[in-house]
Amino acid sequence: MSVKAPIVPLDQLEQVWRVLRTNEHTGSLLLAIIAIAVIYVGYNILYGTDIPYIEGIPEIPGAVPIFGHLLKLGEDHATTCEKWWRQYKHSIFQIKLGNTRAVVVNSFDDCKRMLLGNQNAVIDRPKLYTFHGVISSTQGFTIGSSPWDESCKKKRKAAGTALGRPALRNYYPMFDLESYCVLRDISKDSGNGQIEVDVRPYIQRFALNTTLTLCYGIRMDAVYDDLLREILHVGSAISLLRSASENYQDYVPALRYFPNNVKNARSKELRDRRDAYLDLLLNKVREMIKNGTDKPCISAAILKDEETKLTGVEVSSICLSLVSGGFETIPGTLTSCIGSLCTPEGQIWQDRAYEDIKRHYPDMRDAWTSCIKEEKIPYINAIVKEAGRYYTVSAMSLPRKTVTEVNWDGAVIPAETMILINAQAGNHDLDHFGPDGAKFNPERWLSSLEPPTEAKIDGLGHLSFGTGSRACSGQFIASRLLYSALVRLLASYKIVASEEFPPNTDYVDYNQFKTALVAIPREFKVRLIPRDSAMTAECMDAAELRTREHYKE
Ligand code: HEM
Repeated sequence: MSVKAPIVPLDQLEQVWRVLRTNEHTGSLLLAIIAIAVIYVGYNILYGTDIPYIEGIPEIPGAVPIFGHLLKLGEDHATTCEKWWRQYKHSIFQIKLGNTRAVVVNSFDDCKRMLLGNQNAVIDRPKLYTFHGVISSTQGFTIGSSPWDESCKKKRKAAGTALGRPALRNYYPMFDLESYCVLRDISKDSGNGQIEVDVRPYIQRFALNTTLTLCYGIRMDAVYDDLLREILHVGSAISLLRSASENYQDYVPALRYFPNNVKNARSKELRDRRDAYLDLLLNKVREMIKNGTDKPCISAAILKDEETKLTGVEVSSICLSLVSGGFETIPGTLTSCIGSLCTPEGQIWQDRAYEDIKRHYPDMRDAWTSCIKEEKIPYINAIVKEAGRYYTVSAMSLPRKTVTEVNWDGAVIPAETMILINAQAGNHDLDHFGPDGAKFNPERWLSSLEPPTEAKIDGLGHLSFGTGSRACSGQFIASRLLYSALVRLLASYKIVASEEFPPNTDYVDYNQFKTALVAIPREFKVRLIPRDSAMTAECMDAAELRTREHYKE
């Protein structure tokens, strides 16, 4: 091994030191250097950001040392930013999240322009200390949290193939079985309408089983299955650790080094629990392959080497992305949607939806079998779109990062800048959606009521799935799940809010955990009034027969 000679020879250094020692100003010179260094480091700790102030983009006043705007943002970043947009009259502004400068975009048109007009520039996602460094250190990043690189490109492509429109036909048996199970158990547990029920657990199982089937060919039949509840519990707890309002240590590095760092310990515990169930699921698939009982699914295809381009970590990461992509977003959207439909005002929407189902499928049995294959009922489509818009379950979307400069009306947003899309603000933008934009109203998506006819949308309807280069990969499957569950539920029951536990239908306050990445609706209960008990029983019997052998272990 060769050792390089020092750049400055030692004897020369000694000479310099001797001169300095004999010079009478050396003491004050050294002090001045140290003072400047301390001021420089101190200033950086207090005020420094990864990206310097961006000329031409207004900054919200009131940033404080170290934390920037973090404390002012409070728990609910989307709502605070929505308020700042109105207060300071700038739809796009910059803020400081501790040491990270972020550009926040609020109005519908600006969100659309940022995501669609700069598709290539905003294709990246930021890496965060807690989520990327601690939680994701074993299974790889989910697609939604991966920076844009070769591996992410491959994973996004594989997910796109598994979740794209043409693939939906492969999942008809699964849609049939899972939406049947929602109806089966809700009917049973509500004593066919006698007992008030909380619909969320049924919808959670519906969403989770769908992605588990897709990824592992495995499902759980009981609503309170231990593994099902463990996956939901751990997943929700991790989602809590992903939002900026919950994780100051991501933006204020000094907090990471505090002794007994609770966040790190909690993250590691959750990571271990998540690893345990992901391994268990994958091992189950291995065993099924050995016994020849495996079902067609993403992981079996890869384990059997039918698809060789992905590594083991990439397969885990895809499965994890799909499981975590759907298990909270679908229940958040569908549960809250039922909350709005079951109010006194919502009864008219339910009746009109019921009439529209019958108009398209005079024989209800056809409605049950068609709703998994096609989305043809305009009133139901309108409800699905309004549920997505009004209850923006991922209020701040998923953060983006610029890979190249973005020129915004002359202001230059540099590469590597965090971009936050305030989907909640854009989705309730009165300038775009009209004066009733802050209200739940499915009929805004219809051009006529006699008969219900879908209004033509110019491109993007709402911002809840994002758009552009990193838009939600699961949006087609999500729409079909919402549609099929709504058709079967509304065809079978009139849903009426409990008087004792009514839903909260405010588009901000319906969410019980403001700090989580995805909204968790406050609990409420409903009463189910059968529409046509004999017909519902017949549809359910037929569904039971059709799906009896699906995904049986
Ligand atoms: C109502 C349901 C859903 C909502 C509201 C939703 C919302 C979102 C949003 C806002 C994004 C970020 C988009 C952007 O940056 O522009 C996203 C990304 C993603 N979603 Fe969904 N999602 C839903 C359902 C699903 C489902 C069911 C799956 C999978 C089965 C899924 C898989 C993904 C994936 C893989 C990404 C990451 C895309 C990327 O970063 O390239 N989502 N979703």
